Amino acid sequence: MNEKLLSRAANIADLKRIAKTRIPAFAFEYLMGGCNDDRALTNNRHQLDQIFLQPRNLNHATVVDTSATLFGRTYDSPIGIAPVGLSGVAWPRASEFQAQAAHKHNIPFVLSSVATTSIETAARHAKENFWFQLYPPRDLEMRSDMLRRARYAGCENLVVTVDVPSLSWRPRDIKNGLAIPPRISLKSVYQTITHPHWAIATAKAGMPEFETLKPYINTSQGLKKTAQNIRHALREIVDESVLRQIRDSWHGNLIVKGILSIDDARSAVDCGADGLIVSNHGGRQLDAAVSPIQVLSDIKDELGERAVIMADSGVESGVDVARYLACGARMVFAGRAFMYGVSALGRYGGAHTIDILNSELRQVLEQLRCPNTSALPDYLT
Ligand SMILES: Cc1cc2nc3c(=O)[nH]c(=O)nc-3n(C[C@H](O)[C@H](O)[C@H](O)COP(=O)(O)O)c2cc1C
Repeated sequence: MNEKLLSRAANIADLKRIAKTRIPAFAFEYLMGGCNDDRALTNNRHQLDQIFLQPRNLNHATVVDTSATLFGRTYDSPIGIAPVGLSGVAWPRASEFQAQAAHKHNIPFVLSSVATTSIETAARHAKENFWFQLYPPRDLEMRSDMLRRARYAGCENLVVTVDVPSLSWRPRDIKNGLAIPPRISLKSVYQTITHPHWAIATAKAGMPEFETLKPYINTSQGLKKTAQNIRHALREIVDESVLRQIRDSWHGNLIVKGILSIDDARSAVDCGADGLIVSNHGGRQLDAAVSPIQVLSDIKDELGERAVIMADSGVESGVDVARYLACGARMVFAGRAFMYGVSALGRYGGAHTIDILNSELRQVLEQLRCPNTSALPDYLT
């Protein structure tokens, strides 16, 4: 662990505070915001705080093991990097830095379809730790080409996100005019020049673009039209028939992200899903959404034998990771925490975020006298 970085940022809250000073407000608000009135975002925190663990101080567990084995592979930690779109707005090359860190620390890295790094570049950095998240395109040729590229890049785990049937209502982004490319206003120019680190890094890396989608989207009709084209191309509602089509054309593991009910969990597994990510998209889609931690144990009890159950939303520490694991997740993803990491610390941010989360998780296991992450459910009150 890097002691110098640790003295600046010892937890995710520190990374968030530093990120806020380093990046323009429109970028920070895009990352941290929920939707509507942020009720789901707040509830994620509230519900995680209701999960308590009971130590067994007299247990004879001297060594703790934080590794996690799923889909036949062992990762060093049960913590993964969640897919984040428009990643280059938070920090240029954010997804590349995260992919490198995931490879170095042997954890999963999930690239978003709408990240600003291409499938090929991310896979080159993450190597065998590369997972790909698909917003299924309407156009079947485009869809199968994206799957072909993912497979060719070595991806074994495809994550299909099903919880974005509608563009969400995010007042901050609406007011900030956040779009790709960002709408230029006096306010955004001011925010940019008052954050020189971000401005210089962005100038060096070039304006972020949807690298994975470039081959399919007509970019010659002006900037605004390009953004509209992308929204149109990816607005496929993912129902059971779409999932079955994807299952038929994807030979690796199929993971469905955005599950919040036993019914959906069962449907996804009936359609051939190998894994589920119980998630409310970090509280960014439906402000009245139930929090994943409220439904995780039930989904695990019902489907845990048939699919690998994973979770995300609201992870702000290794303690939160332990809470999700205790409720039945086998892998826990974090989105914002890793983005704050790279926004705060650039290329060092991905690895430092992993270090923080994993050290905190390890400390929880030691304190509980719990030998490994799969034993955590026994420590739930
Ligand atoms: C800025 C931002 C962009 C996101 N973009 C995507 C995306 O492109 N695809 C996707 O499946 N999920 C996306 N998500 C959701 C994350 O994958 C993940 O579910 C969520 O961030 C977990 O909550 P957390 O940020 O509290 O850890 C995004 C989340 C954030 C914060």
